[in-house]
Amino acid sequence: MLIRSHDSGFNHPHASDITPRAVYEGRRDMLRLLAGGAAGAALAGWAGREALAQAAPGKLPALAGVKSTVPGAQTMEKVTDYKDASTYNNYYEFGTDKADPAKNAGTLKTRPWTVEVEGLVKKPGKYGIEDLLKLSAQEDRTYRLRCVEGWSMVIPWVGYSLAELIKKVEPQGNAKYVEFLTLADPKTMPFVGSRVLDWPYAEGLRMDEAMHPLTLLTFGMYGEVLPNQNGAPVRIVVPWKYGFKSAKSIVKIRFVEKEPGTAWNKAAANEYGFYSNVNPDVDHPRWSQATERRIGDGGGLFAKRHKTLIFNGYEQQVGQLYAGMDLKKFY
Ligand code: MTE
Repeated sequence: MLIRSHDSGFNHPHASDITPRAVYEGRRDMLRLLAGGAAGAALAGWAGREALAQAAPGKLPALAGVKSTVPGAQTMEKVTDYKDASTYNNYYEFGTDKADPAKNAGTLKTRPWTVEVEGLVKKPGKYGIEDLLKLSAQEDRTYRLRCVEGWSMVIPWVGYSLAELIKKVEPQGNAKYVEFLTLADPKTMPFVGSRVLDWPYAEGLRMDEAMHPLTLLTFGMYGEVLPNQNGAPVRIVVPWKYGFKSAKSIVKIRFVEKEPGTAWNKAAANEYGFYSNVNPDVDHPRWSQATERRIGDGGGLFAKRHKTLIFNGYEQQVGQLYAGMDLKKFY
């Protein structure tokens, strides 16, 4: 996002880092078996052990969900290696370099954690993270995340539709947008004092976008709780929009009547709009959005580029939300 360089290609991960999907899935099956008490049988399997050793560091508590049946929730594309997904991050509160969040986010204190729901709802309230985790059944969903900078990943997330929480708090008729505010704690987040963005990091969705079943209130990835650098303990993931719409480490969800200001729009309104739907036909003012580099493909500057898809490939599911809208104007 930062103005100085866009997807320079440096810092790229190696092809050897790629985790075959089968390995990841083997591990996921294993976690399920363990949860079901079939530990002995699972451990006997060489494949299971191998999977555990390779796919993820395994340092975080397991968080497995049931396979989601929401249309679009299961891409068949190759899953990005956990190592890449957890070390190549944008989380500006912890620094602007892709490697900074993984290095610095250890200071983030994710317990106790409260998410406050306020504004135009009949049932405002404070949700402790443990209650929020249990509010609905956790689901496994594999989404493509496309960053506005021109790279993408495929990540297996764990969470449930934000709509489940929205239904519980009963929005009033005049609630047209949902605003997300994230933690801004200068004591634990070294870059919150910087002037790169207006803190706290803020994002927003129109109510129908927020209610769309694909919009995920996210607590985990790769069958474990989120690592801090990926937005622990709770974030949003909106798969058809550029990654910056997916606010990390949320502390407040506010229902409002008017389109809320958002962090990147305030920083550079001509570059980052409110909608920010992935769109290969609407270029960023300083670069094309027609193609993307898949993290993990290797090859650096010469990496094979993939064609970017309208709505990041989720047109069938979300295209109708924007029927009749000029997507060049509402970028
Ligand atoms: N949320 C907060 N609080 N701060 C941030 O800097 N960066 C955004 C988004 N959410 C960001 C954030 C951007 S630009 C992207 S691309 C995604 O997080 C990256 O998510 P990932 O690191 O899990 O891939």
